[in-house]
This record gives sequence, C-alpha cells and structure tokens, in this order.
Amino acid sequence: MADISWELFHQQVQDCTLCSLYATATHKVPGQGDIHSPLMFIGEGPGQREDEEGIAFIGPAGQLLTKMLSAIYLPRDRVYICNIVKCRPPNNRVPLDEEMAACKLHLRMQVALIRPKVIVLLGSTALHATLGPDHYITRERGKWYERKGVWMMPTYHPSALLRDPLKKREAWEDMQSLRNRLIDLNLYPDIYQELTSDDI
Ligand code: URA
Repeated sequence: MADISWELFHQQVQDCTLCSLYATATHKVPGQGDIHSPLMFIGEGPGQREDEEGIAFIGPAGQLLTKMLSAIYLPRDRVYICNIVKCRPPNNRVPLDEEMAACKLHLRMQVALIRPKVIVLLGSTALHATLGPDHYITRERGKWYERKGVWMMPTYHPSALLRDPLKKREAWEDMQSLRNRLIDLNLYPDIYQELTSDDI
C-alpha cells in the first residue's frame, strides 16, 4: 500500500471520536516504528508517559521492552510497536470492551498496512482483543498461533514483569522462541545470519 494510506491512518486516529477515551487523552498514541517491519508488537493502551508524548511504550514498561528486544539482537527501531487502544484509559484502567471494539478499526488498518509475518501480543488485553476472551495469558504465553498466514505469540506484558520479576524467566523463554521463529522464517537475515551459534 502506498504511504498515503499511512497519512490516512494517522489522520483517522487523530480525528477519532468513536469512544469516549479521546476526550481525556492528551495525545493520541497511534504506534510507531519500522513500517516495513515483519514483526509487530501489540500492547494494551498508552500509559501516562505515552499519553504525554504521543509515543507507544516509552515509559518503564517500554524501556523493559527495548531491553528484551536487544537481548535477541533486535534494535527497537526495526520493529513496529502499537497498542489495542490508541488513547489512554483514565488511571490506566483496562480498556472497556466497547473501547477496544471501536479502536479495532485502527488496528485492522495498521495490520493491513504493515502486513506483519509475526505478531507478539503483550499481555492479556492484547490476547483477548486479538484471539478472543476465552484465552488465558498464564496458560498460553509462549504458544504459537497461525492466523491467515501470520504467526502470533502471546507473552507477558512488560508491566507484569515489572510487578512480578519471577515471570521474567518465562518471558525470556518466549523471547528465545520469538528469535527462533524469526530465524526459521528467515526474517532479519542481516541480523541473524551475522551471528554464530555461540551468540544465540
Ligand atoms: N503499556 C501498554 O500497553 N502500552 C504502552 O504503550 C505503554 C504501557
């Protein structure tokens, strides 16, 4: 799709009044990163820092996400990062079903523009909104799902890792599984073909 569609997407998000979250948001947070990335991360919704700056995952959870990416040799600017909802829910509450449903229009357009090969769902909100409400993050993290040729893996949200560092071991397993999937699909060859098996 031509870049003009990205303009349309960003305009559509900026103009959006489909749910009431727009009224309390300081900035809309559409998402950012490499628009040609084969890998997309989807979180829940903007927190305070993201709302202040208009950029997804730049607060403490985002800093941890950046570290997790670099642990599998991925620079953050080589992936695309966004959220289920593009406006901050007041007091960081979980987005309501109707807010997620309204915002799906934007997410669908984003996925259609990026056409990722792999999607990582960060936390239960992203898992529920994408694969359905009868999925459980504790049970399904690290599992792979294929939907219409796209590989999807839920893992813990980085905020959950900050709250409970004991989850970090499982999160690291998930990141290794992600790296293996990227290697299997021959994505990021410039990064992974440079590494020897000792590195990974
Ligand atoms: N948590 C999220 O789910 N998304 C962000 O952008 C920041 C924190």
